[in-house]
Amino acid sequence: MSEDLKRQAAAAALNYVKDNMKLGIGTGSTAVHFIRLLGERVANGLTVIGVPTSEETANLCREVGVPLTTLDETPELDLTVDGADEIDPQLRLIKGGGGALLREKIVAKASRDMVVIAHKSKVVETLGAFPLPIEVMPFGLAATTLAVKNVCARFGMQGEISVRKTADGENYLTDGQHFILDATFGRISDVDGLDMALRAVPGVVETGLFIGIASTAVVASDDGIEIYKPQA
Ligand code: A5P
Repeated sequence: MSEDLKRQAAAAALNYVKDNMKLGIGTGSTAVHFIRLLGERVANGLTVIGVPTSEETANLCREVGVPLTTLDETPELDLTVDGADEIDPQLRLIKGGGGALLREKIVAKASRDMVVIAHKSKVVETLGAFPLPIEVMPFGLAATTLAVKNVCARFGMQGEISVRKTADGENYLTDGQHFILDATFGRISDVDGLDMALRAVPGVVETGLFIGIASTAVVASDDGIEIYKPQA
């Protein structure tokens, strides 16, 4: 996937960033372009302050000179700019391919607005081809996994559910010290219902389904930049 197109989406999203804004700053390869471009704007006099959605993003912000705050100091934000793994016509998202879904959702929900930046390949008719990340507590992992499988079966989804691993075979740990289950369904027919049912399982911390959060998607392809709004 072209880094140049991701960069173009990130550059177009800078149009939504105004002086003195309090920003949520996303995670992932598209967000990296946004952070670098934002750093250039800050060097040229733009005043913003940002809440990073991961340690990785915090480190890059420090490197490029984007001033940081926390949600404790700044609990209300103007705008979050972040990538996505899938985007449907209602601008419901799957996020968390990079493992930052929990902080990403907390930060996005603390923001008045969320703009998604993505390559066109992320736009889908129906969510679910990308494995859905589900962040879970390490305590009771097998029981929680079983409960998650039962919920999915109730929704008619029988796909594989696996604990995310690192390259050396350890369970992947999020910034919040949780594990991630990746659920491969192919398609999710009842996005809202599944999200609600999964979040009701004790041990599930959060899902990678972002529903009713994004107001705009800035999507780049070889044909240029397109701005998507949620379809009714
Ligand atoms: C990080 O946890 C994710 O939610 C990313 O925002 C998402 O995976 C998109 O990443 P890319 O911009 O690298 O495709």
